[in-house]
Amino acid sequence: MRRYSLAALSIPVLMAACAAPSAAPVAPMPGVAPAWPFSGKARVTNGINAMVVTGSPLASEVGRDILQQGGNAVDAAVAVGFALAVVHPEAGNIGGGGFMIIRPRNGRVRALDYREAAPSLATRDMYHAAGPDASVTGHLSVGVPGAVAGLTEAHRQYGRLPFSAVIEPSIRLATQGFLVDEYRSSSIASDSARLVFFPASRTTFLPADRPPQPGSIFRQPELGATLEAIRDSGAAGFYQGWVAELIVAEMRRGGGLISRDDLARYRAIWREPIEISYRGYTIYSMPPASSGGVTMGQILNIMEGFGALPPFGSAALLHREAEAMRRAFADRNTYLGDPDFVRNPVERLLSKEYASQLRRQIGEQASITPNLAPMAPGGSSTTHYSVIDAEGNAVSCTTTLNNSYGSAVTVTGAGFLLNDEMDDFATSPGQPNMYGLVQGEANAIAPGKRMLSAMTPSIVLDPKKQLQMVVGTPGGPRIITMVYHVISNVIDHHMSLPDAVAAPRMHHQGLPDSLQVESDGFLPVTLDSLRAKGHRISARGRWGDVEGITRTATGWQGVSDPRRGGGGAGY
Ligand code: GLY
Repeated sequence: MRRYSLAALSIPVLMAACAAPSAAPVAPMPGVAPAWPFSGKARVTNGINAMVVTGSPLASEVGRDILQQGGNAVDAAVAVGFALAVVHPEAGNIGGGGFMIIRPRNGRVRALDYREAAPSLATRDMYHAAGPDASVTGHLSVGVPGAVAGLTEAHRQYGRLPFSAVIEPSIRLATQGFLVDEYRSSSIASDSARLVFFPASRTTFLPADRPPQPGSIFRQPELGATLEAIRDSGAAGFYQGWVAELIVAEMRRGGGLISRDDLARYRAIWREPIEISYRGYTIYSMPPASSGGVTMGQILNIMEGFGALPPFGSAALLHREAEAMRRAFADRNTYLGDPDFVRNPVERLLSKEYASQLRRQIGEQASITPNLAPMAPGGSSTTHYSVIDAEGNAVSCTTTLNNSYGSAVTVTGAGFLLNDEMDDFATSPGQPNMYGLVQGEANAIAPGKRMLSAMTPSIVLDPKKQLQMVVGTPGGPRIITMVYHVISNVIDHHMSLPDAVAAPRMHHQGLPDSLQVESDGFLPVTLDSLRAKGHRISARGRWGDVEGITRTATGWQGVSDPRRGGGGAGY
């Protein structure tokens, strides 16, 4: 068996919890372009007992502290969820939604859906008159937030520490403030043109009319007061009372639709996770209202039937992956939607027989998907976090406002951003959304319906059913293919998790009909071979922020994507 182990060269496995950035020269990985900047650069944290990895090192420390106070993985995940709303406001949120997979050490795996829902006044064609940008920026783009219902429900079912202890660190970070780093400052700067347009966003995120500078302390007292209301009254502190009044007032101010009843009615929903068997491993992932588990499962099922896969980075592998993805996304965009509104043929889509039918369609040349859509611009801001506690309980959670800083609308007086998740519906069935996804009637807007997501929080068990990996990422529809890549890189290409995360990524979603690759990731000769097979190649940008944990001989290894600013904390 060939083992690609860049991490083994560059990152010593340490007995105690510590970050170990790479310093030693890194051997080129077969199939990867020499210019690829991330080889050996994944941020690694090792812990003997427990691990938290998130898109923000500050939030990871919050999770680790909760674990060390005697909290379990769900306590830590809930604490991280609230902390990310403070320290990672581009995606961490209380005004958005998310999905959580929970695997108690010896218990049933469960999936919690706290996806946003369309307001009761929403209509199928509401964006036709309003114009396409109305589903992306401003009050009309906002779905009924689910995050607070989800986090409080997860804690109610599984938490061990008092809720007040779990939410306290986020209140402290909001009221006392935290030190702004380069990443946070430039992240706010990059969205300042949208934020400046909404008065409460301007005062919150652009004090003195510019982003908080690196080295300054960023305080959010209004957000702190909102979190205190949640501490004191639980979900009712958000969905009823003065916070709800301020949300409704904000909607009235900007022509949004969310009503008091919409807020009071919102509930998080427990669902059965998707269970995928792949080469003896078991993968649990998110069912609809996310497409993540089903679509990734279809890709894995198609690839499994090819037997041993061609080497990483080869044209033969990328071609098969692109063709598998193209087919899985075609089904996603046709069949999947909120299961409380449409029948999702999950069993059929995930059957191995159906995967072999699809696989038989794949030849040596690229198939064709009619190109109706422009290139996907990409650029979402979702965020993922993974937690394993000292007892082996695991949580995989992905949460989002959709766009970076969501709708760009901050609730006046309550200090938090609202999502623009309505754009994840087929706002105009047959036309591309922000991600270039062309979706159909199953995901059309209806009052109270949850918009289809791509979020793919996942937990992997090894063939002996031992917990092996917790993984997920932001990235719009590319979330699905990124989580696929990390799992396949580990299982099929025998990479360490740091290498699997650092490796270049490709993506195909059917429409637009292009095989997307990260720039400088794959060898030019590989891309030429793919062009000769008929693929249209788009080599632009780098994407994702995988935050994963894997088991090691001495405990747990947290791995943060070198493409962004996350980090882990363990003990
Ligand atoms: N808003 C991105 C997703 O849920 O897929």
